[in-house]
Amino acid sequence: MTSSFVDLIARKRDRGELTPGEIRDLIPAYLAGEVDDAQMAALLMAGLLNGFTDAEAGALTQALVDSGRSIDLSTLRGPTIDKHSTGGVGDATTLIVGPLLAAAGCQVAKLSGRGLGHTGGTIDKLESIPGLRVELTTEQLLDQVARVGVAVASAGDDLAPADKRLYALRDVTATVEDPALIASSVMSKKLAGGAAHILLDVKVGAGAFMPDLQQATALAERCVAIGTQHGRRTAAVLTQMDDPLADAIGNALEVAEAIEVLAGRRDGPLRDLSVEVAASALALTGQDLADSRVMMSQLLGSIRLEGVFRDLIVAQGGPSGLFDDHWQYLPRAPVVQDWSSEPGVVQRIDARRLGEIARRLGAGRQRLGDQIDPAVGLEVLVRTGDRVEPGAPMVRVHARTEGAAADALAHLPSAIEVADRARGPLPLLLGSVGLSDAAGGV
Ligand code: URA
Repeated sequence: MTSSFVDLIARKRDRGELTPGEIRDLIPAYLAGEVDDAQMAALLMAGLLNGFTDAEAGALTQALVDSGRSIDLSTLRGPTIDKHSTGGVGDATTLIVGPLLAAAGCQVAKLSGRGLGHTGGTIDKLESIPGLRVELTTEQLLDQVARVGVAVASAGDDLAPADKRLYALRDVTATVEDPALIASSVMSKKLAGGAAHILLDVKVGAGAFMPDLQQATALAERCVAIGTQHGRRTAAVLTQMDDPLADAIGNALEVAEAIEVLAGRRDGPLRDLSVEVAASALALTGQDLADSRVMMSQLLGSIRLEGVFRDLIVAQGGPSGLFDDHWQYLPRAPVVQDWSSEPGVVQRIDARRLGEIARRLGAGRQRLGDQIDPAVGLEVLVRTGDRVEPGAPMVRVHARTEGAAADALAHLPSAIEVADRARGPLPLLLGSVGLSDAAGGV
């Protein structure tokens, strides 16, 4: 493979295209050590600079899927649905959307990841619930989805393992930010997860991987094209990630807020986006999008949704009383301190900085393998465009120690800008790909 692989690198360098067969052979050769990291990095960089075609991205996705196990959901009755967010701050939508879709009669076998950088991960959030198991065998996953309608488990190392190798290489060779490479990485895991319908939430803004709408739209189009090429009904919503999505940033705090939304007691962007994502996913199965929005809104606060959530938690070993009295079970940080700035109108909130402050408190990892502290984090009590009265708390810090709280308080002024001039709120839904009516949404 080595000498012919040099020819492939040269072809990509000279703006040529690789065939699907070449890409299919390349990934196993890389995993087997016949192609080394330097060569793979050169190919990735040549592709990043000259662009990968849709056909190359599709073939790469398939090769990544074929490097590991795929889950067969064909035994499940009802439409199988997966949703995926490209990563955000305060994004607990999976904990709401999974039960919503199950309550609407869908089957959701959700494989999730842990936090990455300043962004949170569903598995870390779930692990803040005492006793809750996130490692499920395929048999346990399928059995739970058949009984409850939803399971949320850790994606495991055998799902698209070549993606893990490539991702680590991209991380150290400045080749993460290629839309074809991100799309094939994301979609390989979605395709291996087995769902027939895939809804992507592509985040845009300061707190997202894609700061700009044009790049994010290109990424969404790539992902939708790959899913469609592989016979899955796929669509994407593009959503704002300048403000954090929820008030809470931190694992137990986010679980608590998600439960408040499920119970119908909390309005705001987390609720609105959860309704939009769940409705858009349901629309992929042939339902009308506007009707789906109404249905999802009505399910929030219903006995039916409460029952699905309770069954989900209990099936994975969590406490049955979590829904009724979550603070009896979720860990709380011993030090709580409020931060406020001068009065005025909130001009800008930097979700990435807030995510980083929460990470410094211990809500995320500094290094791979670090233990996270499930209790700590931030509650952001304002949004862009809000008027702040003198002395009103703007952020509540939940810390393990006084020193950690002081560190967070010292960093908060760099994350929120207040000034004495009018400023409108930020829209949440910025666009969509593959959905017929996004105009009526949030
Ligand atoms: N998330 C992924 O799974 N892969 C990428 O390449 C980027 C974000």
